[in-house]
Amino acid sequence: MRTTISVIKADIGSLAGHHVVHPDTMAAASKVLAEAKAQGILIDYYITHVGDDLQLIMTHTRGELDPKVHETAWNAFKKAAEVARDLGLYAAGQDLLSDSFSGNIRGLGPGVAEMDIEERISEPIAIFMADKTEPGAFNLPLYKMFADPFNTPGLVIDPTMHDGFKFEVLDVYEGEAVTLTAPQELYDLLALIGTPARYVIRRIYRNDDNLLAAVVAIERLNLIAGKYVGKDDPVTIVRLQHGLPALGEALEAFSFPHLVPGWMRGSHYGPLMPVSQRDARATRFDGPPRLIGLGFNVKNGKLVGPSDLFDDPAFDEARRLANVIADYMRRHGTFMPHRLEPTEMEYTTLPLIQEKLKPRFKKEADMYKTKESIYTKGKSTGETHD
Ligand code: F6R
Ligand code: MG
Ligand code: MG
Repeated sequence: MRTTISVIKADIGSLAGHHVVHPDTMAAASKVLAEAKAQGILIDYYITHVGDDLQLIMTHTRGELDPKVHETAWNAFKKAAEVARDLGLYAAGQDLLSDSFSGNIRGLGPGVAEMDIEERISEPIAIFMADKTEPGAFNLPLYKMFADPFNTPGLVIDPTMHDGFKFEVLDVYEGEAVTLTAPQELYDLLALIGTPARYVIRRIYRNDDNLLAAVVAIERLNLIAGKYVGKDDPVTIVRLQHGLPALGEALEAFSFPHLVPGWMRGSHYGPLMPVSQRDARATRFDGPPRLIGLGFNVKNGKLVGPSDLFDDPAFDEARRLANVIADYMRRHGTFMPHRLEPTEMEYTTLPLIQEKLKPRFKKEADMYKTKESIYTKGKSTGETHD
């Protein structure tokens, strides 16, 4: 059977700050999805949240970018945002950038990860959802899952994975994508995805038969809206087992709480902490950036499950390390590399401070009676490595 899995998420307002989704907003969204299920638009759905992001997990047979499914998600977010407004929740309607829906939810604010697949006899999947970070945060773990044999021994010892995977990488600044094959082009791949703010893994396919293995929501709101509206808390759907990473290989990729941009005011690097659904709330310094994972089986479009994948003592040490890293990073205060580089910050007020101070800057030559500043001499080329 061909089934489409659509995960569409948005921050439509949250309780006590940018902290956690309110259950009443989830109930409002649930009502809309239940109606869509009754009308036959959806086969099944599951609603959850991570931090202040409401997550709609939906299955159907209508393919990716389907107007009816996207409209359903849009209406669910609208209804949830109305409830958020009524309850006086914080930043109600935050990610809904448009007043009206026009055929496709992409570009309107919500994040979208969709895959249209031929269901295998058993179709295990994991959906990873993060808060207080951005889509490039999945570059490192997806690389580990699908290209690093130290994480995924199946790449070496399972003949059906041995040909490796190809990665579709999107340049979010230019709006162009390139497909690179691992292991053959591993170094080229790493050269790009090591800059996760610009190059984002969007899709992964198995090399030998082009089987779609993973998709990522790649929306970056600031690049879409032209200004920062909120972080672009990302989602990825990963197919598992039988010639794909085992569930445990997928989870292993998150046992190292790597540094991701986001956290407080979308402007700080912090560790991505894998947590259970119950701990999926932004607290310390609006974070640390949180990740949840839900495991399902998809059968004839039905979502069987979920299992709360990080609700497990095996991830206690990853969380402990994340807390140690959080302490260490926090001690930098407003200094880089805890604080992001100015172009990546959610707050765009640094240029205003520079502008304000501009009249107070004096030419070094005037101050020290030299012909010119030693720093302006070599300014033009910027070439330092020949
Ligand atoms: C980051 C985030 C929060 C807010 C912070 C300030 O993506 O959602 O860290 O940036 O709580 O929010 P405002 O400016 O709305 O008070
Ligand atoms: Mg928010
Ligand atoms: Mg969020």
